[in-house]
Amino acid sequence: MKSKLIGEVKDLIKKKYFAYFEKGGGKGYRYYHAVRVADNALRYVNKFNISLDKDVLVISCLLHDIGKTVMSSNTEITYDSPIEEHCVKGSQQAENILTRLNASSKLINHVKEIILNHHDLDSELVEIKILQNADDLDEFGMLNVWRILSYSFQTDRSPQDSCHYWFSVYETMQSKIASNFSIPFFKEMALKRVENCNYFFTSFSKELNSND
Ligand SMILES: [Fe+2]
Ligand SMILES: [Fe+2]
Repeated sequence: MKSKLIGEVKDLIKKKYFAYFEKGGGKGYRYYHAVRVADNALRYVNKFNISLDKDVLVISCLLHDIGKTVMSSNTEITYDSPIEEHCVKGSQQAENILTRLNASSKLINHVKEIILNHHDLDSELVEIKILQNADDLDEFGMLNVWRILSYSFQTDRSPQDSCHYWFSVYETMQSKIASNFSIPFFKEMALKRVENCNYFFTSFSKELNSND
């Protein structure tokens, strides 16, 4: 399912983020992250035939970080606003964007509500739960390998430092999975991903120590 509005929102965030890099994520990371969150949310909805407005869900996923990012130079994105602030800012910015794109007020209000509350862990709104789970999923797996290594290139960390970093956060990542995911589909994927990442760094560390 792909509505014209979804294509327009995607183009807009591509234009906004594509040329920018962020530490750890690399070039275009914010754009690709938003698209992955939307794609993974949709995978779940389609697999389990969840009944909801898919346009609203996908557009909310695409725009969920819009209030979080700061273009700190011509080429770099940083983000430092507190959670409540980026939720409020994000829902306002989403309203402006969707109004410019002539979206219906029903869709705009629904998206605003989702973005405004996208960090509320007590929310019962199914779209918010799916967005939260799909967003959290991006923290785990080979994506994490990429982020750790790319961060290392940008901060003079050695290959060994990268492995040590991973081993120092591995248990925290496992407990994060236990506590963060409310939807089994995403939780199982995160568990598989964290082990992939651990496999990478375990193998890498063995090679670095001539111990493989
Ligand atoms: Fe957020
Ligand atoms: Fe996110």
